[in-house]
Amino acid sequence: MDISGKVALITGSSKRIGRETAIELARRGAHVAIHYRSDEAGAKETQRLARENGVQAEVFRAELTDAAAVAALFVDLEKRLGGLDILVNNASVFGHAVFGESTPELWDAQMNSNARAPFFLAQHAATLMNRRGHGKIVNLVDVAGEVVWPGYFAYSVSKAALIAINRGLAKALAPAIQVNGVAPGPVLFPEYYTEDQKRLAVERTLLKRAGSARDIVNAVVFLIENDYITGEVIHVDGGRHLM
Ligand SMILES: NC(=O)c1ccc[n+]([C@@H]2O[C@H](COP(=O)([O-])OP(=O)(O)OC[C@H]3O[C@@H](n4cnc5c(N)ncnc54)[C@H](OP(=O)(O)O)[C@@H]3O)[C@@H](O)[C@H]2O)c1
Repeated sequence: MDISGKVALITGSSKRIGRETAIELARRGAHVAIHYRSDEAGAKETQRLARENGVQAEVFRAELTDAAAVAALFVDLEKRLGGLDILVNNASVFGHAVFGESTPELWDAQMNSNARAPFFLAQHAATLMNRRGHGKIVNLVDVAGEVVWPGYFAYSVSKAALIAINRGLAKALAPAIQVNGVAPGPVLFPEYYTEDQKRLAVERTLLKRAGSARDIVNAVVFLIENDYITGEVIHVDGGRHLM
């Protein structure tokens, strides 16, 4: 797929990896739908940076665990951008809780944001993409979904579900739409991480350093541009998945 002139929706693109993805797709000529939930100022800044590339960049607010809000997002998106070619399921919540501390509320919050929302976003996206006869979906997953981190039990299970959804969507949406995942390693730490937590995360990689948002965006772009990969997950994690 040639990204130039395509329409891309990037969830959670008011900051961090989502913002970098939106800006890079805009730099490559895509019109971008910048989605946010609470950080309007961040989303507008992403919009400003994307527009520097002469493309259309529109901002959309939605709580992605709310099915009606997601449906309304796609109606609005079609009205403002005319259709959709690319969906990047980037938005996610990273909730710390060991087994004994996990509550039903935390479980639902993790599963609904990280697995249920990307599934239904893909369902809406596929309707628009099938009208164009092509489409690319990239899901941001995590090695936690393969190994299950005890300190992030529900988060890990939600990402395991997303890895399963990634495979299922690849089957359900073939041959017109390719669906793949990127599993980042330690790239941008949560703001509350201590220096010790950062050091430990880096030690658990083979390459002994943190990656950058750019490393992740490069993999997302690769998966969008390549038309013969589907159902795959690329680990961009400095070898974390082997440790
Ligand atoms: N950062 C890393 O090093 C790393 C490592 C492994 C995996 N990943 C994966 O890579 C992706 C991007 O990571 P990140 O750290 O850049 O993300 P992030 O900052 O944790 O989250 C991105 C955005 O998701 C939005 N969001 C979360 N739940 C939502 C909901 N229910 N409805 C609507 N929006 C919601 C939030 O938007 P608002 O702020 O507007 O509310 C948030 O800013 C995530 O899928 C993450 O799991 C990242």
